[in-house]
Amino acid sequence: MAKVKTTFFCQNCGSQYAKWQGQCTSCKEWNTISEEVIQKPEKSDWKLPTSSTKRVSKPLLINEIDTSQEARLDMRDGEFNRVLGGGMVHGSLTLLGGEPGIGKSTLLLQIALNLEYKTLYVSGEESQKQIKMRAGRIQSNSNNCYILTETKTQNIFKQIEALEPDIVVIDSIQTLHSDYIESSAGSISQIKECTTELIKFAKETATPVLLIGHITKDGHIAGPKILEHMVDTVLQFEGDRNHVFRILRANKNRFGSTNELGIYEMQGSGLREVTNPSEILISEKDEELSGNAVAATLEGLRPLMIEVQALVSTAVYGTPQRSATGFNAKRLNMLLAVLEKRAGFRLGAKDVFLNITGGITVDDPAIDLAVVASILSSNEDVALPSTYCFAAEVGLSGEIRPVQRVEQRILEAEKLGFSTIFVSKYNKIALKNTVIKIQLISKIEDLVGFLV
Ligand code: TYD
Ligand code: MG
Repeated sequence: MAKVKTTFFCQNCGSQYAKWQGQCTSCKEWNTISEEVIQKPEKSDWKLPTSSTKRVSKPLLINEIDTSQEARLDMRDGEFNRVLGGGMVHGSLTLLGGEPGIGKSTLLLQIALNLEYKTLYVSGEESQKQIKMRAGRIQSNSNNCYILTETKTQNIFKQIEALEPDIVVIDSIQTLHSDYIESSAGSISQIKECTTELIKFAKETATPVLLIGHITKDGHIAGPKILEHMVDTVLQFEGDRNHVFRILRANKNRFGSTNELGIYEMQGSGLREVTNPSEILISEKDEELSGNAVAATLEGLRPLMIEVQALVSTAVYGTPQRSATGFNAKRLNMLLAVLEKRAGFRLGAKDVFLNITGGITVDDPAIDLAVVASILSSNEDVALPSTYCFAAEVGLSGEIRPVQRVEQRILEAEKLGFSTIFVSKYNKIALKNTVIKIQLISKIEDLVGFLV
């Protein structure tokens, strides 16, 4: 009998070692290295299902490359198409990651059920009956979508060969296992092997494959980092589980930009595309409350009006508390320091809490001015007019810095009925005849003058 071959893998980053050690030399994590069996039989008996389509690559001049059949597949979901860069590319491998229960299976099943193409949805997590129940909630009666519950890649390829689907969805890569590797499903070597087989299948048959991937507790896709290098597109499905909004973004995209963002709302009957997010992210109020300010941000190419709430109160303990939800806490501290120095606010003795409503996280620097305005408003307990909105970055010396694509933000604010937008004096604005008042400011002190 052949000797059982084993090797050691770091379960965090996927590095391979010949023997066990306490700390991974590449990612510096402790106790993450474990032994996996990687017995591989002769690879020569490994055959792709549709080996007849196998072709030998030869070099071509770039002008000679035929792109006529590279048209993208329409996923019949505006948000998903946009994040992918205009639909799914033939032969591409897309990985969708996200926290448990965020709605990854729901999203891909919903898409699979709506497709016009023949789709194979492979699940290693739920039974066919459970998937049918879920499909019942989504209320779709598709007759193009086949459901397979299987975890062995060789069997999956056999079914694919019989069915010849146009798109394959796999839920999830961590449940798959290949006969060519001995170790258990979800281990680094299995994930690597199964992904390699799927890539080979996708590239050689030009069939797009969508994979679901679990993420670890620190938010990375579970499995080796190399998994993200292997696939063409890495999508992240995120959101606060207690809120209804879910955001889909591309962390890596070989066929499009990574700036685009898809927004969904989780409903009793599945995920609904949110085509005009600004309207729902701003809450309806009967009276104006202190500590609220609206920021005109951009997510990808789309303008998004977001409400920022701040609460400033006298610190009970010696060290004041600072907490931010949906906003970088370090940036909050920086803005507070700027306010202290430039606007004379004694914030050192105050607790400051900041919240971006809707459970979303914003990293557009244009939100700074709204954050500052909401803090000032809460500190003075004076409500800002609800028709004001803000779009500018705040610099360390208290200067109001310009932001990109300010015209687009202004037009969105005007469309939603805001009366005044505060932007940096240094933004070059080519707009004429706007109904909305464009208030140009250059320093934080200017803003204080307007608000209190
Ligand atoms: P699921 O897709 O199973 O999450 P994942 O695959 O990312 O682990 O989503 C599960 C959550 O979605 C569950 O908490 C209930 C919710 N949900 C709805 O609110 N409405 C629906 O129609 C469906 C199918 C799920
Ligand atoms: Mg799932």
